[in-house]
Amino acid sequence: MNNQPIGFLDSGVGGLTVVKEALRQLPHEDIVFIGDQARLPYGPRPVDQVQAFTWQLTRFLLKQNIKMLVFACNTATADALEVIKPQLQIPVVGVILPGTRAAIKATKNRRIGVIATEGTINSGAYQQAINARDPQLEVISLAVPKFVTLVESGQYATPIARKIVAEMLQPLVGSGIDTLIMGCTHYPLLRPLIQEFMGPEVQLIDSGAEAVSEVSVLLDYFEIAAGNTEHRGKARFYTTASPKMFDQIAADWLDLTDLKAQQVNVTEEGPTCSMN
Ligand code: DGL
Repeated sequence: MNNQPIGFLDSGVGGLTVVKEALRQLPHEDIVFIGDQARLPYGPRPVDQVQAFTWQLTRFLLKQNIKMLVFACNTATADALEVIKPQLQIPVVGVILPGTRAAIKATKNRRIGVIATEGTINSGAYQQAINARDPQLEVISLAVPKFVTLVESGQYATPIARKIVAEMLQPLVGSGIDTLIMGCTHYPLLRPLIQEFMGPEVQLIDSGAEAVSEVSVLLDYFEIAAGNTEHRGKARFYTTASPKMFDQIAADWLDLTDLKAQQVNVTEEGPTCSMN
């Protein structure tokens, strides 16, 4: 039993889609979340820069005395998980493997689509993870960078969003996929529009939500779940930019109307260096 919080990081509000699932699946756990909105988007950034920023967010969360770290960001998972995870003393969970496992389970015709940021698509992380399990599975990958900006500007339920979703997903028309991984934690906020465009026969996979099931399993495996089941978990939210839009989206998306994110500066957490 362990009552320390679980840490979640992302480049912005996208990680809230993972926190939402954590609040649902793990109601007794305390949560600390940080979104690096001042330096968003991570998708177009070089790998070494994503690693450097992710280290800073990690250091900030370690100072909050977390017992487990969740990379609630596919780009950080693709670029930085394998570098950071071996250097920490606590379990670290990414979103790519859980999304991969769920997609392999869901597909019937063995054609899986992946939409994600340029960084995640260029890393080939989903393709490799899927084909490592089954080389016969066909993977169709597409970078849809505009989706992150749509979500961060709070326009995820507008007619403009519907138009951009249709334009960006056009290359998937006729691809024959029956399963589509939303390989960026911002995309579940666009889920109704993505589903509408792809049609009901395509099953959408939310990698972040799948990762929370893995967190739940690991809490039991390491025997570090919160001890007191009477305790209602508390969540604290931090952002590196102005909290205004963060609070609005959190209220709309998480139904946490009294949420007040705090603005913090993580650049003082040091550059790319490891914890050693
Ligand atoms: N939400 C992030 C992801 O899952 C990153 C979006 C971005 O900053 O480009 O990839």
